[in-house]
Parts: sequence; C-alpha cells; structure tokens
Amino acid sequence: MLSDFLLLLLSLNLKQMDLQAQIKLPIADELAHFVELFDRTLDSTNATLHEVYSHLLKSKGKLMRPTLMLLLAKGLGGVTDETYSAALSLELLHTASLVHDDIVDDSRERRGQLSVNALFGNKVAVLSGDYILAQALGYAAQTGDARIVKAIAGLGKHLSEGELLQLYNIGSTDYDENTYLEIITKKTASLFATCTRCAAISARAGVHEVAMCDDFGRYIGLAFQIRDDIFDYSDHADIGKPTGNDMKERKLTLPALFVLNASTDARLHDMARLVRRGEATDAQIASLVAATVEGGGIEYATTVMQSYVDKAKSVLDVIADDAVRRSLELYADYVARRDH
Ligand code: IPE
Ligand code: IPE
Ligand code: MG
Ligand code: MG
Repeated sequence: MLSDFLLLLLSLNLKQMDLQAQIKLPIADELAHFVELFDRTLDSTNATLHEVYSHLLKSKGKLMRPTLMLLLAKGLGGVTDETYSAALSLELLHTASLVHDDIVDDSRERRGQLSVNALFGNKVAVLSGDYILAQALGYAAQTGDARIVKAIAGLGKHLSEGELLQLYNIGSTDYDENTYLEIITKKTASLFATCTRCAAISARAGVHEVAMCDDFGRYIGLAFQIRDDIFDYSDHADIGKPTGNDMKERKLTLPALFVLNASTDARLHDMARLVRRGEATDAQIASLVAATVEGGGIEYATTVMQSYVDKAKSVLDVIADDAVRRSLELYADYVARRDH
C-alpha cells in the first residue's frame, strides 16, 4: 500500500522532471551559458556579501524567468547579448525581491534551505537585497537599450506598489477578487510581463510581437501566483518553503475569498476578520483553511488559473518556430501543474 503510494509520488515527480527537461530542450545550451554568467555575477569582495551569495548560489530555484526569456528570444529571431544582460538583470531583481519578501513575510525557509533573514538576520537581508537590486540595474544598463532600462525601472515601482497594496489590504474587510487580482498583477504578473517584453525587445521583435509577449507574460504571471497561493493551503507538499504562512501573515488569497463571498456563515466571516486583524489562533486558521477546502475554494482558484493559462496559450501564434512554440505551451501547462 505504502510502496504503491511512493511509486505514484515518484512517477508524478518524474513526469514533472520530464516536462521541465522538455521545456528547456530548445534552449539547453543558452540556459547553461546563462547559469555560468549568473554564478559569476553573485560575487563581492565584501566578506558578508560573499557569504550571503554563497548561500544563495547553493539553491538557485527553478530559473523560470530566464527559461521563459531565452525561449521567447529564440522564437522571435535569436538570443542576443542583450537577452543575457536583461535576463541577468531580471533574475537578480527576482532574487532581491525574494530576499526582501522573506523579511516582510517573516518566513524562515526558501528553496529548501534557510532564508537569508533566518540565517543572517533582517539587517543583513535588507542590505544585501539592496545590493543585488543595484546589480540588477547595472545589468539593465548593460543592454544599452533605453526601452529595457525603462521597463525594469517601472517594474521596481510596480513590485513595491503590489507589496504595499497587499500590506494595507490586510486591514480591510472587503473580499473583492478584483483587489486580489490587482495585487497579484503588480507583485507577480508585472515581473513576468517585464521578462517577456524585454526578451522580445532584445530579439529585435516588432511592436506587435512585443505587445503579444507582454500579454503572454502577464497571463502566465497571474496563473503562476494563483498556483503559488494554492500551494499555501497544502499541508503535505515539499515545496521548499513554508505552507500555511499566508493566513499567519494576514493574507486571504483567491481560494478563501471565493468561499467568503459565497457564504453567509457568520462564524466563517468572524474568523476571516480575525485573520486580517492578525488575531486568529492557529486553530482558527486551520478551521478557515478547512472551510476553504471544503467549500470548493481550491477548485475555483484552479479554474481561474486555468483560464489564464488558456489565454496565455492563445497569444502564442506570434512564435513561428514550432519547437519553441511547443515549449512555451508546455511552459504554460507547467506553471499550473508544478509541484514546487
Ligand atoms: C516565487 O517564485 C515567488 C513568486 C512569485 C510566487 P519562484 O517559485 O519562481 O521561485 P524560485 O526562483 O523558483 O525559487
Ligand atoms: C511573492 O509572494 C511575491 C514576490 C514578489 C516575492 P509570496 O509572498 O506569496 O511568495 P512566496 O510564497 O513567499 O514565494
Ligand atoms: Mg512570501
Ligand atoms: Mg506564497
């Protein structure tokens, strides 16, 4: 019985590995080159930064954004030096935003190891995140393309606005899905849209292709964050970061919002208010999570996520290369199916 279960888990895992390998196939060499460059960027003569960087490089994450950028650039005419510089800039910006996010969310685990704040404290985490961000801007400048610099500078503003909106939303009593969508558009979809836009620009694509890539990135990013928010409800997944953290941090995400909007149960609404005020006990959080799961919140969020995956796929006809387009379709599927 147990061994059947383990076999099932193993085969699911193998399927995910196959899928990731298949997605990366058209850009395997380019991605290897990117990783070499990335390893070299994360270094400093400052002893503390050197330690933080060694820690970060031990576990690099899924490289979702460079993979996406290299695929799009390849599908739109070819990967250029500017593609690598823009991809380095955006992966550094992503890294900095995770270092800062774990301070804001008071989260002690990232990519299966201790978060920077857990290992070095909040002060070092703030300052090294800033340093990585400054490096990101350097690589944006290295593209020599003002449109890329402008997109990346604008992104920095959107990410902060998204996080601030989220922070102040915890005090509100409205469960409007549009507010949730605005937050995730700013904090996550804007990063993906900037990646796809910059990839298209770096491949010297035309205005129409750039706009389509922008849409593709935004839809992918929305689906990506909804998947991430669904993870938080799972208590068994080994995803390399804590689950159950969102409600502890006073966040109500799409699954819970759906159930709250559909229910008049006063007990449920009381618990939601306590979560938002940061006054809910662990038992109350557990019971709101259970009510969300039982009330179909996960299914609902999964349907919304899938609608964004479908929208993303529908704009892919700008990519003429069949193998690359196929990989991008698989990428969109993977965003919704990934298990970490
Ligand atoms: C995590 O992104 C942050 C979110 C936008 C939810 P990833 O899940 O892509 O993180 P890594 O880079 O693979 O660790
Ligand atoms: C991620 O939001 C948004 C970022 C810009 C980092 P989360 O707070 O849900 O991300 P995780 O779950 O910590 O990766
Ligand atoms: Mg977080
Ligand atoms: Mg999360």
